[in-house]
Amino acid sequence: MRENKVSIVAIVCGIIFLLAAGYFAVTMTMEKVSEPEKDYLIVGTNTPFPPFELKNNDRIVGLDIDLAERIAKAMGKKLIIKDFTEFDALLPMLQTGELDMVISAVTIREDRDEVVDFSDSYYDISQGILIKNGSNLNFSNPCNPEDFVGLRIAYQEGTTSQLWVEENLIGRVKISEPTVFDDFAFALQLLKLGAVDAILLDAPVAESFAKSNPDLVVAGTIETGEEYGVVVENGDPKNLLPAINKVIAEMKTSGEYQKLLEKWFGGGK
Ligand code: ARG
Repeated sequence: MRENKVSIVAIVCGIIFLLAAGYFAVTMTMEKVSEPEKDYLIVGTNTPFPPFELKNNDRIVGLDIDLAERIAKAMGKKLIIKDFTEFDALLPMLQTGELDMVISAVTIREDRDEVVDFSDSYYDISQGILIKNGSNLNFSNPCNPEDFVGLRIAYQEGTTSQLWVEENLIGRVKISEPTVFDDFAFALQLLKLGAVDAILLDAPVAESFAKSNPDLVVAGTIETGEEYGVVVENGDPKNLLPAINKVIAEMKTSGEYQKLLEKWFGGGK
């Protein structure tokens, strides 16, 4: 009789133990599922680069940001935008795993493709030449390397503008030592003060700066046939590209993308 009692107590204790273990196992897995970083899509960008990414008071807005918002929504995640002071830092930051995605008017290039992965393209651009209104500089159309002889040009570090200058001007035509910058706000001041003659940058952004700075004007464009893509870590270990490409394709067929162009370019392209 006594032995029976002991074994009943042992069984009840065993059941309680198993239930408790089960309960903790469930709560532990639930906690795992709701780990904060899994709910967020952490995206890096570099402002100001209007109308793709710019600051409106303290908010970061733009065509790229709307696109990132739409991608996060499709993934059921909240968007966190991190604005880096250097465009050049974005791709290395992806490689450390600190960012999930980069959306920053990044041109798809084979050499970049070796260290990161790109989505399908979402925007086509040329390079543009931004100068001070009234400076009597002449650029042929299409622009010719000779047009830059004697000029003090500037470009953002690590961009395709820099590559164009290196491939087409350096060692070929006589130009002054180029000015390399990180921050466009600073570069526009250099141009306005006459410290540089021309800034080379993505043409739609040159147009946008000229629109908001009446003392600046786009003097010419260079057909480089560039296309923007969303960037993820090399090999896409987080498997984000299928969802990103799906959003881009769906937005294009549904007309939503056209609306985005109208919103940021007023009329679209
Ligand atoms: N499209 C050029 C490149 O990929 C310039 C991009 C600069 N973007 C920016 N948000 N500042 O090199």
